[in-house]
Amino acid sequence: MSSHSGHVKLITCAEKHVALLSELGAKTFEEAFSPYHPASDLEKYISETYQLDQIRYNLRKPDVQYAVAYYDYEDAGYVKLIKDVEVEGLTGRILEIEKIYVRQAFKGRKVGAALMQYVIHEAVRNGYSWLYLGVWQENTRAISFYEQFGFKKHSTRKFQLGKTVCDDFLMVKDLRN
Ligand SMILES: CC(C)(COP(=O)(O)OP(=O)(O)OC[C@H]1O[C@@H](n2cnc3c(N)ncnc32)[C@H](O)[C@@H]1OP(=O)(O)O)[C@@H](O)C(=O)NCCC(=O)NCCS
Repeated sequence: MSSHSGHVKLITCAEKHVALLSELGAKTFEEAFSPYHPASDLEKYISETYQLDQIRYNLRKPDVQYAVAYYDYEDAGYVKLIKDVEVEGLTGRILEIEKIYVRQAFKGRKVGAALMQYVIHEAVRNGYSWLYLGVWQENTRAISFYEQFGFKKHSTRKFQLGKTVCDDFLMVKDLRN
């Protein structure tokens, strides 16, 4: 990581960003999980989840919102939000951070922090009481990142990727205060 502190800009995505989101999604998922999963499992998940038609479909859903972060005009990370999810044990409106990913080359440069600040701002502006997300229990970097923003462990869940069953923490951030 260089000591240069670049300029981060966030944009809310529209249909014209479909190709960017497809490439950014596939690349960042691969970078994050290729050390831990067989290539065949990853390829199947990635081709299904990040293909253009799937992203286009997601972009058209009224309850889905994507934002991309640019670092010095290069696309560096993104977030995918799901509006008004239901979570056992929580009352009030809940916004799910379904995906938050930063490219390897940009990690540690506050791109993730800028994405999280955008999410918190959007959530508060729209009257949400909670942020909610799932994270692999072994992803200690992401967990400490979330804790820094005030997320707390709420419960656990299983997530299946090909042959591997992963244990996730479900984490929540209380926005009411
Ligand atoms: C988790 C992630 C989104 C964080 O984004 P980022 O741009 O790297 O993080 P930032 O530079 O904004 O760092 C913000 C804070 O995160 C924490 N953090 C950053 N790098 C860290 C590291 N190597 N280890 C532990 N915590 C770290 C720190 O608290 C940091 O604050 P500080 O710089 O004041 O110490 C990013 O690392 C990522 O995309 N990881 C891979 C994908 C992933 O795991 N996504 C989540 C799946 S649930």
